[in-house]
Amino acid sequence: MKMNHDELSDSCFQELRALIHEMTGITIASNRKSLVQGRLRKRVLALALPSYEDYVLHLKTNHSEKQAFIDLVTTNETSFFRTPRVWDYIEKVFIPEWFGRHRDQRPLNIWSAAASSGEEAHSLGFLCQAFRELHPSFSYSILGTDISQEMVTACQAGFFEVKRVEDLKKNRPEYFLKYTRAERGGVVVRPEIKTRLKFVRHNLFMALPTTEKFDLILLRNVLIYFTPEDQKKAIEKLEPRLTSEGVLIIGESESLASIETDFKSIATLIYAKSAA
Ligand SMILES: C[S@@+](CC[C@H](N)C(=O)[O-])C[C@H]1O[C@@H](n2cnc3c(N)ncnc32)[C@H](O)[C@@H]1O
Repeated sequence: MKMNHDELSDSCFQELRALIHEMTGITIASNRKSLVQGRLRKRVLALALPSYEDYVLHLKTNHSEKQAFIDLVTTNETSFFRTPRVWDYIEKVFIPEWFGRHRDQRPLNIWSAAASSGEEAHSLGFLCQAFRELHPSFSYSILGTDISQEMVTACQAGFFEVKRVEDLKKNRPEYFLKYTRAERGGVVVRPEIKTRLKFVRHNLFMALPTTEKFDLILLRNVLIYFTPEDQKKAIEKLEPRLTSEGVLIIGESESLASIETDFKSIATLIYAKSAA
């Protein structure tokens, strides 16, 4: 049967929007039909389904399709040391101050809560490893999570194609040279950092499957996909996982100003618990 893949009906688009929201918390604007169509077109063709309506039925009746759908509808744009101001704070203020308080009592525990393909978590790894080389008693542990299994698998591999490390090479050449090694047309991250990074699949609207607490949580460039009401829900899920003196960092075009939370701003994009 020949399919006209340019025909995503309005009603089917509404159904897909609802499914995206139900599965990820992401709210797709009502004028973004072409975005959804563009993301799903190849998949519908690959499954040889005659229409988007058939795809919706397939998605609802095949549990295994859910993850493929989530992988397709999430936007995974990221880069090493994205938003430099935030990294200056982590490098020059947060890590030294944390070490000043805790010394070698326990490892610094960090969560990159929408890790995408891992550039953020690995940037954290580079900073922590560089600090550790100056202060050998400093130790760290980094958890990266994302709702997309495709992204989590990429993070776990710790492999980055050449074009994805161009900015790192240009902006932080010392880390590129020291902490990555050329392999198969790209680079892999050195084992001394890789062993301290862990990646698991996790939906921000669910409870994290561990009881650990974090000194620093990065929740960057994901809240923009949620309504204020859903942003509040995601923040409420994450808040108990932050230590009382912990810090939360959000993305460049995000703010907690319009939602009621237990956080107070300590610098642009940087928050601490109100009671701390
Ligand atoms: C634009 S990327 C941001 C990556 C990185 N934090 C940064 O700032 O560069 C957004 C990521 O959020 C993930 N995401 C979207 N909804 C999510 C949810 N409900 N739970 C966990 N991750 C989610 C997406 O899969 C995507 O990889």
